[in-house]
Amino acid sequence: MEFIEHDFYLNPICIGLIALLILTLCMYKRQGRAKLPPGPWHIPFIGNAWELAADPDLRKSLRRLHKQYGDIYRLYMGPKLAVVISGYEAIKEVFVKRGGEFSDRPDSLFSSLIAENQGIVSTSGDVWKEHRKFTLTTLRNFGFGKTSLEEKIHTEISILLSEITKQNEEPFRIQLLVQTSVSNVINAMIFGRHFKHDDPKFGKVMAIFDEHFENNGPNNVVAFFPFLRFLPGDMFHVKKTLRNVKYVEEFIGDLIDKHMENYDEKKMEDFIDAFLLEMKNHQDQKDSTFTKKQLSKTVLDLFSAGTETTATTITWALLYLAVKQDIQARVFHEINKVVGTDRLPSLQDKRKLVYTEAFIMEILRSCNIVTVSLPHTCSVDLKIRGFDIPKGTTLLPDIDSVLFDPKIWGDPEEFRPERFIGEEGTLLKPEEFIPFFTGRRNCVGESLARMELDLFIPALVQRFEFLPPEGITLDIKELDGVFGITHKPKPFEIRAKLRNK
Ligand code: HEM
Repeated sequence: MEFIEHDFYLNPICIGLIALLILTLCMYKRQGRAKLPPGPWHIPFIGNAWELAADPDLRKSLRRLHKQYGDIYRLYMGPKLAVVISGYEAIKEVFVKRGGEFSDRPDSLFSSLIAENQGIVSTSGDVWKEHRKFTLTTLRNFGFGKTSLEEKIHTEISILLSEITKQNEEPFRIQLLVQTSVSNVINAMIFGRHFKHDDPKFGKVMAIFDEHFENNGPNNVVAFFPFLRFLPGDMFHVKKTLRNVKYVEEFIGDLIDKHMENYDEKKMEDFIDAFLLEMKNHQDQKDSTFTKKQLSKTVLDLFSAGTETTATTITWALLYLAVKQDIQARVFHEINKVVGTDRLPSLQDKRKLVYTEAFIMEILRSCNIVTVSLPHTCSVDLKIRGFDIPKGTTLLPDIDSVLFDPKIWGDPEEFRPERFIGEEGTLLKPEEFIPFFTGRRNCVGESLARMELDLFIPALVQRFEFLPPEGITLDIKELDGVFGITHKPKPFEIRAKLRNK
């Protein structure tokens, strides 16, 4: 029995290794003739991905490599060629001016295993174009980026404020509360419903998102050596990830089934309803991509990206406010002057809340939650600045190299909201400010995220003073984060003191 088990694990590994070896040899033969961008020394087949993992702070590794090899350099993720694109000019040249050529997603273990190459985040070509367009149009119809959504966001904010009040000014972990409230905004648009803060099933989904975003960042080695997932145990969290995806998909599947049971063409209330109508309209078309699977994967993309990113940004903002009391005092002073304390801040106030807006922009720049943007690829052999980029190469857009470029910001390491305020006291919008990336594949949820940040953060500061736990000085080190798919703060506790009792 023992032998059989051993054999079961060994066979796929051996087959995987041999297949990989043959592929690698063919690839090196082909690449041997190409003029590839410069890059650090690598071991054939093993690559040099450790260059990215050399420091727990991914940004330090990226900055060292950028300094050494310039704006366009190569790395080998296992046997796979990856090219990092750094600096605003190079990013604009590749992903904006030549966006049509570099907007595909590469094949990866996670895009095939988790997304099954469906949804929006992992698709390419016509399927991606059709579904990105459909998603944006549909979400706009349900309020995306429109002031009509403000009321819904205010409802979620009021619930969050009362959940925080329940903590009685004791130290607590605010992350889950923020995550649930933010998620409920996108939930209203996709599922047409709200989940309670103490809903255990929903709470598990939130915990799964956290785990997923933490474990599956750009330096998880199993992405470069997929056969490692067959090793006994679960060292690279692949089995855990698959169990998690199954749980979330069942959660989404139940909600889709309920929508199908109650489907009424005269009552289009959310994204799922609109997608079901599209499925019906395409039912005679044999190769239609409006399928139940595509619906489930698109919802998974919107639900996870729409929850984790914005919640992480708000959590960073609260941590910075607790550490930087002088900045918090200035933000509160402005809100108190412009809005007062009798009503929630609204989008109309945004124009006058210049310092608060500048603070939010500085959080987006400085915490840079998507340090390296999602991978892109090209479907044919291309050249960039004279370098060959073979088809299928993974292109990694280094957002950090732009948001921390001293030539653009002068003192990028300083946390200084004033950098976004012009001489006349108006808000500046530098074109290099790209936390949501740029070009054709930029963030689908930018307008929603900006609305949420502009409403949640001022409302929280209006009601509470955020402080470190008593007797503890949170210093700048507390602001170090962990790098996964997003850059998020390490778990921390905070106190929320009511301003007007
Ligand atoms: C502060 C919040 C957010 C930040 C910083 C952010 C940032 C990003 C970045 C950098 C990308 C990668 C672009 C690329 O492919 O290179 C992206 C893609 C994406 N984001 Fe966001 N995002 C945020 C919020 C949201 C929200 C609220 C949603 C919900 C709808 C969302 C949905 C998506 C989707 C679906 C994609 C994939 C787009 C595609 O592949 O065409 N994001 N985001």
